[in-house]
Amino acid sequence: MRKPVIAGNWKMYKTIAEAVATAGALARQVADVSHCEVVIAPPFTAIAAVAERLRDANVRVSSQDVAAEAKQGAFTGEVSAEMVLEAGARYCIVGHSERRQFYGETDESVARKIVAGLAAGLTPIVCVGETLAERDAGEAETVVGRQLRGAFSGLTASEVARTITAYEPVWAIGTGRTATPETAQQMHRFIRGVFAEAAGAETADGVRILYGGSVKPENAAELMAQPDIDGGLVGGASLEADSFAKIVRYQ
Ligand code: PGA
Repeated sequence: MRKPVIAGNWKMYKTIAEAVATAGALARQVADVSHCEVVIAPPFTAIAAVAERLRDANVRVSSQDVAAEAKQGAFTGEVSAEMVLEAGARYCIVGHSERRQFYGETDESVARKIVAGLAAGLTPIVCVGETLAERDAGEAETVVGRQLRGAFSGLTASEVARTITAYEPVWAIGTGRTATPETAQQMHRFIRGVFAEAAGAETADGVRILYGGSVKPENAAELMAQPDIDGGLVGGASLEADSFAKIVRYQ
């Protein structure tokens, strides 16, 4: 059985005080939840304070990115996986489309970040997804397949098993336009097939694949009901504890 994961990506929102307050409100609202793992990814500056606030809660913390370099060194502006772990995070998002689009993230750097995250003991949440132009050109699976092979190529099956993938079609992020459950399911099944080829059927069967892109309380249940959708990566609707808690309680 794959345990679903509902993860909130707070992007560049919230001061430390706001992040701690939202995390506290969320922790109260999901205190009895056991059907899924609940994760929030605040900005780097708030990770330690949020993790401290959630010390006794069933909500875990993620970073939104991590350095590709595993060891400390002269890399101005970067934050290593070990630093993120020490601050209290247990997951790291890597390869988000905004990082690919605006900050030069490539499949090669994503691959290195996965390795760095795993080496530190973090669970990488690896984002893939096609643009609207790529989908319209009939290339969605080609693009996602290439991103997956690029990101996961050097990993053993047991390393792949310690990661989470998030399928986030770029055209659905922050646009209010969600992939239909059928479109999402089709891509999730394809992704599981790529893992089966690369890491074997057993690993593919166990790996969690989240859907992201305009997930809201109103559409969470039908998305999560799909057989190959194992949770969600939520942006806008995770910023308020109430709406995020409703998504966590999609059942
Ligand atoms: P959204 O963002 O839910 O606001 O569409 C999702 C994401 O970027 O992870």
